[in-house]
Amino acid sequence: MKILKLSFLVISIILFSCSGGKIITTKVVSPDEAIEVAFKITEKGEAAYTVSFKNNEVIKTSTLGFDLKDLPSLKGDLKLINAKQSSFNEVWEMPWGEQTKVENNYNQLKIELQETSVLKRKLNVIFKVYNDGIGFRYEFPKQENLSEVFITEENTQFKLTDDHKVWWIPGDWDIYEHLYNTTQFSEIDAESKGNHSDLAQTSIPENAVNTPVTMKTKNGLHLSFHEASLVNYSGMTLKVDTVNMVMASSLVGSDNLDYKVKRTLPFETPWRTIQITENAVDLIASNLIVNLNEPNKLEDISWFKPTKYTGIWWEMHLGKSSWDMASGKHGATTKNAKAFIDFSAKNNIGAVLIEGWNTGWEHWIGFEDREGVFDFVTPYSDYDLQEVVRYGNEKGVDIIMHHETSAATETYEKQQDTAFALMQSLGIHAVKTGYVGKILPKGEYHHGQYMVNQYNNTVIKAAKYQVAINAHEPIKATGLRRTYPNTISREGLRGQEFNAWSSDGGNPPEHLPIIAFTRMLAGPIDYTPGIFDIKFDKYKTENQVNTTIAQQLALYVVIYSPVQMAADLIENYEGNPALQFISDVGVDWEQTKVLNGEIGDFVTIARQEKGTENWFVGGITDENSREMSINFDFLPDDKVYKATIYEDTEDAHWDKNPTALNIRVVEITNQTNLKFKLAPGGGFAISIIKSK
Ligand code: NOJ
Ligand code: CA
Repeated sequence: MKILKLSFLVISIILFSCSGGKIITTKVVSPDEAIEVAFKITEKGEAAYTVSFKNNEVIKTSTLGFDLKDLPSLKGDLKLINAKQSSFNEVWEMPWGEQTKVENNYNQLKIELQETSVLKRKLNVIFKVYNDGIGFRYEFPKQENLSEVFITEENTQFKLTDDHKVWWIPGDWDIYEHLYNTTQFSEIDAESKGNHSDLAQTSIPENAVNTPVTMKTKNGLHLSFHEASLVNYSGMTLKVDTVNMVMASSLVGSDNLDYKVKRTLPFETPWRTIQITENAVDLIASNLIVNLNEPNKLEDISWFKPTKYTGIWWEMHLGKSSWDMASGKHGATTKNAKAFIDFSAKNNIGAVLIEGWNTGWEHWIGFEDREGVFDFVTPYSDYDLQEVVRYGNEKGVDIIMHHETSAATETYEKQQDTAFALMQSLGIHAVKTGYVGKILPKGEYHHGQYMVNQYNNTVIKAAKYQVAINAHEPIKATGLRRTYPNTISREGLRGQEFNAWSSDGGNPPEHLPIIAFTRMLAGPIDYTPGIFDIKFDKYKTENQVNTTIAQQLALYVVIYSPVQMAADLIENYEGNPALQFISDVGVDWEQTKVLNGEIGDFVTIARQEKGTENWFVGGITDENSREMSINFDFLPDDKVYKATIYEDTEDAHWDKNPTALNIRVVEITNQTNLKFKLAPGGGFAISIIKSK
């Protein structure tokens, strides 16, 4: 049921001129009145805004505007033509997600501006103020003196009030796969943190950060800066001024162009967003990013169902097998695929991903001439695609397709119709895409306007063939999954694979307790959890997963994705009682409760499975051991549940004793309180099944 209440109150229409240097202010508050945004025209005629929370300033007067190619900048000399307020309140339903129902309640202020000088160009700014933060975007309305713009830079400022604590990754134009840094704002040093020998692409041109970037003020207020609805525009990094505590938009460019964004009027920019909450937990609960996107544009999406999956994948990252057949240890054989299908069918896992199934892998990485190498329809001779699909159907297990493009975008664009048509003819409804390497055509970057359009057009095209996309080396998530639900998941962070081969030893124990409050605010993550053979010394002695096995289980609940991998090798699962949790855990949720959390330290999340009365809880910690007591008061009254607890043993430790796991079963009700001890790098997972 969709409840829609739309009131469009014209509260104030203000007509002022700013001649005489008068500062004009107009304000809008959140529905609960805690957040206030004030828009003003400065003495210089610049558009500016401030944000406050419970009467304390959060963003100091920050200016807005654009630098344009071959034209004067659009940022001074502005007068306010009109200011219109309205309110909106609805509850919409996610087809799958962290919860079924999402409240979308905000007050809006639409500002119409015009230059007083010769060109008399127009620019609108729209603010939406929610209880959990704000979003604002620019609108270039249709007008006489401007029909097309070449934006050389967007000048959106975020002037901070203090030297906050910040969790950040460098503003890389090519990849988000960096470890998070925890520093004061004044200590951000993105350029020195950037280059990583394990990355096939990286480009950090200045001291800037990528979003979401999350901060904590001295008063305990939490702020996360990001963007929503990134469509036909460049990704925004935030350039930092560590002396004046200011961030300013710095769009991703292209070596081939002397501008960063080209648009024909009328158009709107993505939303610039600030999530504002009084604790870390509420950041995860926030729906600001999806709410700022348009409703579902796809008519029928019943063809995709959230699913757990296994895959011919981790074995390549360990070096047990390879993507390419010439290696003599080809992973994607018909026989191996059938083994994964059998294993998945036995363990309540709905799908299998098969990487390395198509020809071309001999020439995918480290080559300049990558166009034309992959065709996405020709299997290697030891892989019978039709037979694998048929066998999967027989066992009730779907196949997830794999398209590694090696960032050869023109090839992929040309091949997409054929590739998606093949998938549709086989009844395959999901594909993992990949964009490893420097973008071809040369000079483009993964996060520039060219690639934003590549990623978005791929999703739109795929929908026509009933195909859902899980992109690796993607553009950041900006909530477009609301508009195109077939955007099911993506990478866009240092995933589990880094633990298999990274020369810096992989993802440290604090990685995921940071991710939950940064990258995860943007949208679903294909992290690929569930590694049981933590040390994998048989394949590599220099690398390991830096968590306990209990934490690997907890990740199925902590990290949200409608496709959730059981990533380890079959032989590492078989006979291990912990596999029961992966088999039981849900993958689509009726509701989510974040029970506790501090950024970079720990987080516990409870989620109710959609369509059942079952709940699952996952808690994780960083390198510190900690005790936690959990209240089960989120359960309904008068019901008894069987809780199976998977927890670190007393002497468990991510490095010294990572596989020491205790499993116990207890009866619980909503009156129960249980204590847990999390090992360093540890966690706990609970499946809560209603007793009959
Ligand atoms: C990088 C992806 O993140 C990884 O999951 C995949 O196996 C390789 N590319 C090959 O496509
Ligand atoms: Ca990757």
